[in-house]
Amino acid sequence: MAQNWTPSTWRQMPIQQVPEYPDANKLRETEQQLATWPPLVFAGEARRLKKSLANVAEGNGFLLQGGDCAESFAEHGADTIRDFFRAFLQMAVVLTYGAQLPVVKVGRIAGQFAKPRSSGIETQGDVSLPSYRGDIVNGIEFNEASRIPDPERQIMAYRQSAATLNLLRAFAMGGYANLDNVQQWMLGFIKDSPQADRYRKLADRISETMDFMRAIGINSENNSSLRETDFFTSHEALLLGYEEALTRVDSTSGDWYATSGHMIWIGDRTRQADHAHMEFCRGIKNPLGLKCGPSLQPDDLIKLIDILNPANEAGRLTLICRFGHDKVADHLPKLIRAVEKEGRKVVWSCDPMHGNTITLNNYKTRPFERVLSEVESFFQIHRAEGTHPGGIHVEMTGKDVTECTGGARAVTGADLQDRYHTHCDPRLNADQALELAFLLAERMKTGRDEKRMAAVAV
Ligand code: PEP
Ligand code: CO
Repeated sequence: MAQNWTPSTWRQMPIQQVPEYPDANKLRETEQQLATWPPLVFAGEARRLKKSLANVAEGNGFLLQGGDCAESFAEHGADTIRDFFRAFLQMAVVLTYGAQLPVVKVGRIAGQFAKPRSSGIETQGDVSLPSYRGDIVNGIEFNEASRIPDPERQIMAYRQSAATLNLLRAFAMGGYANLDNVQQWMLGFIKDSPQADRYRKLADRISETMDFMRAIGINSENNSSLRETDFFTSHEALLLGYEEALTRVDSTSGDWYATSGHMIWIGDRTRQADHAHMEFCRGIKNPLGLKCGPSLQPDDLIKLIDILNPANEAGRLTLICRFGHDKVADHLPKLIRAVEKEGRKVVWSCDPMHGNTITLNNYKTRPFERVLSEVESFFQIHRAEGTHPGGIHVEMTGKDVTECTGGARAVTGADLQDRYHTHCDPRLNADQALELAFLLAERMKTGRDEKRMAAVAV
């Protein structure tokens, strides 16, 4: 167990990004109430995810992590969850086929409510109010009442997470994810989607393979891996009072686990070595993510790894790199070399979203070509360094939104106003997300072919 650690030792450390709750008693009562409620996930599931991620760290798998920038109370319909899950499964199938590796599926969902902000204050005209910090803290509407942090929102976030997780478990285990349905997942495509044709061809090949396997006696009735899929949840561990309330001792191992989600990560703004977020995360046994942005120096990264993963356990730590398309080549190689030199076991994942945000026509957006470009560079750099490009971390939705420009359907700056629904950062729509998956699949196939050629040449 981590030394001198309890779920509340973070309270003695300096902390960034804390909401100012006007009623400290109500906050305490809410946290105490949450602490008596059932866990959302089990320690055994978090351990299973860690094992799958260990496989990725060793080069034998790929991590697909994605979902909303911020979940919202307003968008809590079954359709939203189903559309996300379907788009995510489509991406996973494309990637599995391209990489010929197991794809570890981790949603930014069922708990992704709290948001770090670059400024604590938002000003519109001559009015300044506290910034929106996610539905778990305050309301997005720009008025004084809605921006006051309200502990009751933590209860709502907990309940929404439980309901979302319930439906996701049903989708993953109850038949929806059965590979026999690979054709049916087509139904989500909007008319004239450029990805539909590519996806149909792939689905046909998978169906053919399934027919062949059925002929030799392997089918979805007698083989659960064709019928079910492992799906895990994740979110940024930002609101530490909420996280602490859901941190529990696992009765089988005696270890502490965050039970708010399977994997949690530390954001780029809250990863100071001697601060509260690092302190909280070091003591729980879940798989962790650490966002790595341009300000992170190689020496500091090693210090953070020492704190979060002192036993150098594979699968414990995923480094989620988010530099920007024009900065990745400057920053990533140095970090990779430091980690390799020190022999640290990590999963390298690429978040091509957070370093590529621009403002266009008063909307925050991300040009799809920059997203692709950062991913391309990430793959090239890992190939050059001889390390495994282990995963991708994206903000996406299953809906046909217009939040990121570009892609095969060429969303323009003028289109942004049409269906701009995000509560925080711009997300890839279903079509852009799948286009990205196809590109990744091609890159992974090339990597595989090169390895095969090299093996033949030897
Ligand atoms: C996020 O993932 O939504 C986020 C805020 O990321 P970062 O900490 O990398 O800025
Ligand atoms: Co975001």
